[in-house]
Amino acid sequence: MNKKILISTGGGDCPGLNAVIRAVTKAAKKAGGWEVWGSKMAFNGVLNDPPELVKLTSKLTAGIHVKGGTILKTTNKGNPLEFPVKQPDGTWKKIDRTQELVDRIKHLGFHAVVNIGGDGSQKISQALFEKGLNIVGAPKTIDNDLKATDLTFGFSTAVQIATECFDKLVTTAESHHRVMIMEVMGRHAGWIALHTAIAGGAEICLIPEIPYDPEVILEKINTRYRKGKGFVNIVIAEGAIPKDGTVVGRRSGDIGDQHIKLGGIGNYLRMELEEEGCQPQIRTTTLGHIQRGGTPVAFDRILATAMGVKAFELIEAGEFGKMVSYRNHMITSVPLEDAVKGNKFVDPEHDYLVKVARATGISFGDQ
Ligand code: F6P
Repeated sequence: MNKKILISTGGGDCPGLNAVIRAVTKAAKKAGGWEVWGSKMAFNGVLNDPPELVKLTSKLTAGIHVKGGTILKTTNKGNPLEFPVKQPDGTWKKIDRTQELVDRIKHLGFHAVVNIGGDGSQKISQALFEKGLNIVGAPKTIDNDLKATDLTFGFSTAVQIATECFDKLVTTAESHHRVMIMEVMGRHAGWIALHTAIAGGAEICLIPEIPYDPEVILEKINTRYRKGKGFVNIVIAEGAIPKDGTVVGRRSGDIGDQHIKLGGIGNYLRMELEEEGCQPQIRTTTLGHIQRGGTPVAFDRILATAMGVKAFELIEAGEFGKMVSYRNHMITSVPLEDAVKGNKFVDPEHDYLVKVARATGISFGDQ
């Protein structure tokens, strides 16, 4: 009898998810003796009655590595550690459903699980592993903020999209002698902003790891205009923080979604600069989910495919409780418990890209 593998995609979507799904399916088929299934909407597909599972055949997965999103769909409202359950009085209570999830997965006859997701999803993987589930993780996030891997798929695509948008903003900034602020994603880490600022040649790059001072930014703008270079392009991460302020966002109104929804710091900065007396006109563009949509760039397709193959190899070898990782240009694996210990942030003192940025005249708004 074939052994069954279950794949889940959880949290925010990201270009490359389908490439992992396809690679696991292909590698399992080639090895023989395996069946691969997908759980719809993260693990909700298992927790729902009746379960919503889909058999991942060659036909269903053919060519999907080129497509953005996830054919399995996803959600950030189904954390089995804190699953929102409506009470008879209409209120919502968070229930730990991890043991039930493990029991259901085993009862459905699955030998192993591949959980594709970011930091939140891998914490779930670790919890399920501790409850006796044969599980491996595959890291995804456009933010690239997972500690145990040098890169996550989706990140390069997000940087490419942001850079292309930045290039477009440069020409209009130049024509109108304007200050253009472009807000990119990056909840706690400034990787997308930093890479885009260097690739695009921004004058100013504002990231969560380096609190900014609007006065310093205004001085940089004024200096540029005094020199006759009559435009300025700023990249700002959604999680950037003014030195005397806090992040800009709102609490999610969605039941079960624990994240604060960031967004709006670009406009906040515009207001700060106007209040400080900035003379040139300022316009703000927020890229938002555009950075997460569409087809993955070639590098992300390859990285995601390699990670999918590795995930299957870990299962075949019985090496559970691990997350696939990209280290020093090699695909390897790390224990899940190490992978979930904190995030990977830009080190303002030691990151070589911060030095590269400063050396090429990019200001972080701090000095
Ligand atoms: O973690 C990835 C990310 O894209 C963040 O940069 C962003 O804050 C968040 O997801 C938004 O997710 P959603 O709108 O799906 O809740």
